[in-house]
Amino acid sequence: MVSINGDKWCQSTFSAYISVKCALTPFYVYTMKTKHSRIRTISLLAGLLLAFFALAQEQSVRPGINRHFVDPDWHRWVNTFERPGREVYDKRHAIVAASKVRPGMSVADIGAGTGLFTRLFAPAVEPGGTVYAIDIASKFIDNILRTCREQGLSNVTGIVNTPVDTGLPTDAIDLAFIADTYHHFEYPKQTLASIHEALRSEGRVIIIDFRRDPRVSSNWVMGHVRGNKAQVMQELRAAGFRLVDDKPLMRTNYFLEFVKAAKEQGK
Ligand SMILES: C[S@@+](CC[C@H](N)C(=O)[O-])C[C@H]1O[C@@H](n2cnc3c(N)ncnc32)[C@H](O)[C@@H]1O
Repeated sequence: MVSINGDKWCQSTFSAYISVKCALTPFYVYTMKTKHSRIRTISLLAGLLLAFFALAQEQSVRPGINRHFVDPDWHRWVNTFERPGREVYDKRHAIVAASKVRPGMSVADIGAGTGLFTRLFAPAVEPGGTVYAIDIASKFIDNILRTCREQGLSNVTGIVNTPVDTGLPTDAIDLAFIADTYHHFEYPKQTLASIHEALRSEGRVIIIDFRRDPRVSSNWVMGHVRGNKAQVMQELRAAGFRLVDDKPLMRTNYFLEFVKAAKEQGK
C-alpha cells in the first residue's frame, strides 16, 4: 500500500488564504470606487497575500539539500546506502538491536531511502507489527515495496510524504526511526510536529546522524550537515521530546533516543 500525502499542506495554505481574505474584505469594498483604485487594490492585496504566505510558512533551513532525491536513480543509491564501509550499513544489525523493536510495534522509517532499515524492521515487528516506509521520493517507495514483496515482507506500508509532514495518522506509531535523514529535513519544526502527533504516548524517536565537529569531521560532513549533536538535541527538546539515551555505538555517527514529552511553550 502506498499513499501520497499533501493534504495538510494544502489545508493550511487554504485556511491562511481564507483568513487574509476575510480580514481584508471591508477594506476591499471601501476602495472599489474607480477602475484604477480597483487595480491598485488588487495588486496591493496580492502583494500582502504573498508576503503573508512567505511569513506564515517555516522557511527551508537547507534549500537544495534534497536535489539528488528529486528523481533518484535506484541502483546508484542502493550502491551508496547499502555498501560495506558505510558505518550505518556496517552497524545495521547492532542499530536494529539497539532500537528495541518488538513484535506488534508500529515503526516509521522516516527518510527510508532504499529501505535498508525498513526490510530489517519488518520481520522484527512480526507478528502483528507494521513498518511505515516514508520518503519524499516516490521512486524510493515504489522500489522498497517491490523489494519487500519479493522478500515476502507483507507488513510494510509506503508513504510518499511532503517535506513538511510525515503523512502519518495521529497516534499511529511506537517508534520514529530517522537514519541519516534529520539533516535532510528542510522544515524540521513542522516535520517534528507531525512526528509528535503520530507518536503514541510512550512513543520514541531515534536519530542517527553524522557527528559534526570541525576537529574530527571531514570537509564533506562540515559542508553537508546543518547542525551538530547539541543543536539537534536542542531542536528535539523544543519540539517536545526528552533525551533518554545517547549510545556510543558508532564512530562517525551518533545514536540518540528520545521519548515523547510536552512541547515547550512558545516554540
Ligand atoms: C541520506 S538518505 C538516508 C536513507 C536511509 N535512511 C539510510 O540510512 O539508508 C536521506 C533520505 O531522506 C529522504 N528525505 C529527505 N527529506 C525528507 C523528509 N522531510 N521526509 C521524508 N524523507 C525525506 C531523502 O529522499 C532520502 O531518501
